[in-house]
Amino acid sequence: MFTQEAIKKRVAELGAAISQDYRNKELLMIGVLKGAYPFFADLSRAISLPLYIDFLVVSEHRIVSELTQDVAGQDVLIVEDVVDSGFTGAALKKDLETRHPKSLRLCTLLDKPHRRKVDLKIDYTGFVLPDKYVVGYGLDYRNKYRNLPYIAVLDQISDEETALSKAQ
Ligand code: IMP
Ligand code: MG
Repeated sequence: MFTQEAIKKRVAELGAAISQDYRNKELLMIGVLKGAYPFFADLSRAISLPLYIDFLVVSEHRIVSELTQDVAGQDVLIVEDVVDSGFTGAALKKDLETRHPKSLRLCTLLDKPHRRKVDLKIDYTGFVLPDKYVVGYGLDYRNKYRNLPYIAVLDQISDEETALSKAQ
């Protein structure tokens, strides 16, 4: 669906936009694991700002790890792999808001707007997807295919299997 070259180009554009929007500031980037790991690594290197880096592990829309960086008073950018229902992004924003960041924005590599179940503002989007299940560049099916350097559509998986893969 998206080649290595297309991803690289889009990540560079996002990095340039973020660097411009936060110029003269420091940014705390929080990556959502596991899916965001390649995107996060590439995006962080496309941003020309002083960066603080942290990660949260999320499983089934719940945060299952702790941050090591203080969020209070920081400009914070959450980095997700894909926004589907929006539950994960909404839960993360709600949680991080309670820690009093100076600002809080959301960046996602992929957006599936047709699948949204809750209202969620996304500040930076890599690509908008049709309602298809994709793998690669961090995205998994049952925890596999994350290391593919491109993003591909995975055909013929049942709803039950989709639900199972989300649990990982
Ligand atoms: P949410 O529904 O917006 O909370 O997204 C939950 C999670 O579902 C994402 O972070 C992904 O891990 C997973 N997910 C949704 N769509 C896809 C897909 O097409 N491929 C792989 N994982 C997906
Ligand atoms: Mg997943």
